[in-house]
Amino acid sequence: MKTAKLILDDKEYEIPVVAGTENEPALDIRKLRDTTGLITYDPGYANTGSCKSGITFIDGDRGILRYRGYPIEELAGNVRFSAAAYLLIYGRMPSEAEFMEWRKQLTLNSFIHASQVNFFDNYSVHAHPMNILSAMVSSISSFYPHIGGENDNMDQHIHRLIGQVKTIAAFSYRKSVGLPYVYPRTDHSYSANFLRMMFATPAEEYVVPKVMENALDMLLILHMDHEQNCSTSTVRMVASSMSNIYASVSAGINALWGRLHGGANEAVLTMLQRIADDGSDYKKYVEMAKRKDDPFKLMGFGHRVYKNFDPRSKILKKAVDDVLTEMGIQDPLLDIAKNLEEVALKDDFFIERKLYPNVDFYSGILYRALGIPTEMFTVLFAIGRMPGWIAHWLEMSKDPDLRIQRPRQVYTGETLRHYEKTIYP
Ligand code: CMC
Repeated sequence: MKTAKLILDDKEYEIPVVAGTENEPALDIRKLRDTTGLITYDPGYANTGSCKSGITFIDGDRGILRYRGYPIEELAGNVRFSAAAYLLIYGRMPSEAEFMEWRKQLTLNSFIHASQVNFFDNYSVHAHPMNILSAMVSSISSFYPHIGGENDNMDQHIHRLIGQVKTIAAFSYRKSVGLPYVYPRTDHSYSANFLRMMFATPAEEYVVPKVMENALDMLLILHMDHEQNCSTSTVRMVASSMSNIYASVSAGINALWGRLHGGANEAVLTMLQRIADDGSDYKKYVEMAKRKDDPFKLMGFGHRVYKNFDPRSKILKKAVDDVLTEMGIQDPLLDIAKNLEEVALKDDFFIERKLYPNVDFYSGILYRALGIPTEMFTVLFAIGRMPGWIAHWLEMSKDPDLRIQRPRQVYTGETLRHYEKTIYP
């Protein structure tokens, strides 16, 4: 076994090196504190491997993303979202019979409990749909109090989570615009069902345009997993205390909502609209993003892991062109986005820091073309990420190295002082 040496106060320590199937080496510091008294200091966990995982591989320097070994370029645009979800969760592509049964179960389990439908009436009219989504997903487990018990059927929870997340999303939209709810059908694909539930009227048949169904499948697959990102790590963190899968995933939805993570797709559109309203002077905004005294950042740019390009953004840029052309849409925000990208990629500030467009840069323009309202963009990200969160939850629950996640800290507060008795009024 390979080891690294740590020399501290003239004492030498051997630290084991572990490597995964793609040979990325890591120091195994599990015994570090016991043997040296030291902990590591790594804010943002940029150098910390929190687990071993066999789900998704990313090589950020080479712009590689693979689900269960399959390159993202071979999945997005070629398979249905639900087939890719099966792959991510069970580790292999389904047979045709398995796929049809899986798709049917996702639909049959997509009805939210009739009492839970009433919950929609009680949210504030100002509630953000991510707020509603996290609360509703958390509430599902209240209808299954025996979750985690002896005869519990985990597959059914998986079907419910993937099936119901789109129902909750579509219903919260329909509620916000005062339209009656539309229910899914077993003869529709996952994405077709979602589009139907969003846009159909009960008064007439709604034929889901193929171009929209295929584009949505591709978008959801691109968002499906991204190894130990903020929301997935949140799901694992909560799960490590033995919380149920609905509670864990609900926490992940809240983590995703932030604008540095999934909320960036909504923030990109808001930014592009702001630039359009401000005379389309995109160069001014590139300059603003570089200023240290200005909190403005180029939303949809930069990534913790990708230091070359984000393969998802490459796929999306082409798809946006193709889909908008097929749908006959000309979106002025797309021109602004392309101009921003061109200027930023030639600018030393972005070159030196290796900042490239990420998955959120072009996704919003595609959602917009599909008729999805801006405040629903991050909800769409959550629908796509659901199989990823589930796969990680399941992997973690079977991990022999599982311990409750409980990082340490470097304390920087007051040293010992004594309380002087004070009489407070
Ligand atoms: N615009 C301008 N400057 C940036 C940007 C940006 N979008 N992103 C990073 N930088 C600068 C940052 O100021 C820092 O500069 P300096 O070294 O001079 O202090 C340097 O680049 C390194 O950035 P960092 O913030 O230390 O990098 P990080 O790995 O901690 O953060 C990030 C990654 C994605 C949060 C960040 O790049 C960012 O805030 N991007 C904008 C928000 C966004 O698009 N988020 C979506 C991420 S991808 C999808 C997802 O995760 O959901």
